[in-house]
Amino acid sequence: MVTGSTRPVAVLVGPPGSGKTTVGLALARLLHADLHDTDAAVEAATGRTIPDIFIEDGEPAFRELERAEVARSLTGATGVLALGGGAVMDPATRVLLVGHTVVFLDVGIADASRRIGFDRSRPLLAVNPRATWVALMKKRRPVYEGVATYRVDTAGRTPDEIAREIAGLLTGGPA
Ligand code: S3P
Repeated sequence: MVTGSTRPVAVLVGPPGSGKTTVGLALARLLHADLHDTDAAVEAATGRTIPDIFIEDGEPAFRELERAEVARSLTGATGVLALGGGAVMDPATRVLLVGHTVVFLDVGIADASRRIGFDRSRPLLAVNPRATWVALMKKRRPVYEGVATYRVDTAGRTPDEIAREIAGLLTGGPA
């Protein structure tokens, strides 16, 4: 079992559709570790879905729950940690990420739309999903790159292939 004892072995960041959860699961399996997903943790803690939180309380309320959950996870989770796509836009979260092994899962609109299909489960992409995703990624790309220890290109690759590359990066061995 590979664990970071008091910290995650890897923190996965990237936009919706970059595969953070599926790659995170594949990586966790490979490392015999757990996957902790901050979106899932917020939903479990509140007993509500993320779209419901957005609709009923607004995005700022979600961001506050997310910020607290990320802060908890960065000191509490010991396996693979997947952050919601917008978590890194919070300056306090970026400070907390310093010193962690952060992997930016890079993806273009073609693969992202194939992966997520732009259904209603992502409130930020509910209106004009493709154009919104492109605009969001333009704004976020420098932030993802800025927090990343490693950038991994996910285009046209399976979660297992991507997970193997990340595992190689983590151990310093061949991908
Ligand atoms: C968001 C991404 C979602 C979720 C929320 C907001 C974002 O997570 O946290 O809907 O701002 O990009 P995924 O990246 O897992 O879709």
